[in-house]
Amino acid sequence: MTAQTPLSQRPLVDTFGRHVTYLRVSVTDRCDFRCTYCMGEDMVFLPKSEVLSFEEIQEVIGAFVARGVRKVRLTGGEPLVRRDIMKLIETLSATHLASGAIDELTLTTNGSQLSRHAQRLAELGIRRINVSLDTLDREKFTAITRRGRLEQVLEGIAAARAAGLAIKLNMVAMKNVNEDEIIPMLEWAHGEGYELTLIEEMPLGEVAGDRVDTHLSLRSVRDRIAERYTLTRIAKRTGGPARYVTVEETGGTIGFITPLSHNFCESCNRVRLTCTGQLYMCLGQEDRVDLRRALREGGREGLDAALERAMILKPKGHDFVIERRSAPAVGRHMSVTGG
Ligand SMILES: C[S@@+](CC[C@H](N)C(=O)[O-])C[C@H]1O[C@@H](n2cnc3c(N)ncnc32)[C@H](O)[C@@H]1O
Ligand code: SF4
Repeated sequence: MTAQTPLSQRPLVDTFGRHVTYLRVSVTDRCDFRCTYCMGEDMVFLPKSEVLSFEEIQEVIGAFVARGVRKVRLTGGEPLVRRDIMKLIETLSATHLASGAIDELTLTTNGSQLSRHAQRLAELGIRRINVSLDTLDREKFTAITRRGRLEQVLEGIAAARAAGLAIKLNMVAMKNVNEDEIIPMLEWAHGEGYELTLIEEMPLGEVAGDRVDTHLSLRSVRDRIAERYTLTRIAKRTGGPARYVTVEETGGTIGFITPLSHNFCESCNRVRLTCTGQLYMCLGQEDRVDLRRALREGGREGLDAALERAMILKPKGHDFVIERRSAPAVGRHMSVTGG
């Protein structure tokens, strides 16, 4: 790649020499659940006019792929509740997956709509998905999600497996809420052939409770699992805050996502696009670039110039802390930035 390489094809490298190869796209801020750690009870969602159209999402993803992004994850809110979402996935699959321009198109979902879509997702080349599941207790599930039905999600997960999709379960580990379910969840997940990722709660957006009350350190969780199982660290690095171990007795893997630690920022390879076209270069910082405006005012050229600015602004790391009654480290909810 030389200085003559047109901007539209120049790799995205930030000021710390990190290559951006992974784009997460929140396709909607809406959701059919209201998980206690993610949203308030009475969330006000954005008017549709503020949300990027499918054409705009495609244009932005196209610009990223031309500049070296190899993996795209759709998230939200709940990606599968956006109307006609399968049309977007069809287009992205045909444009980028079929041509080999990207290695992976995937999504993170709460699973509520998976029964309907799993088969088609597999046909479109999606190989694996992340499904959020914090508990296997029906009542607790409805309490955490404030409106979800466990059976519906379990049916969705089963449909995804039947369609041949690999499944990784995301479980937010919360003190006094589901900490005693971590080992049962691990045993169930590995028994079914799913990977399990445990996530430390992040201080994103105002929610009903005080996060100090539910904050659980994954280091202690890992120690507790290790009392019962043989854990072997594996080298797999994703450029994100996850560290992986295999459980020798089950043959399955567990990921630990500890965003409050800093041990991953130096290899960070990702950026996040909100449903309104704001590009966040770090989940835990406020720096952002308005790609919707850049695109609407300057077309593809404007977009590429904005991506250059984004690379200059990508911060070295985040400043998360959880202190009692402190304001959230970052005011926007996870459903806005996309998990
Ligand atoms: C925002 S959701 C979006 C996708 C989809 N609705 C879902 O729940 O999988 C993505 C992931 O973020 C996680 N999440 C949401 N708020 C969080 C928080 N404050 N701390 C840690 N994880 C959070 C969810 O558990 C989920 O696994
Ligand atoms: S975590 Fe996912 S399912 Fe739960 S409220 Fe947030 S966006 Fe919805």
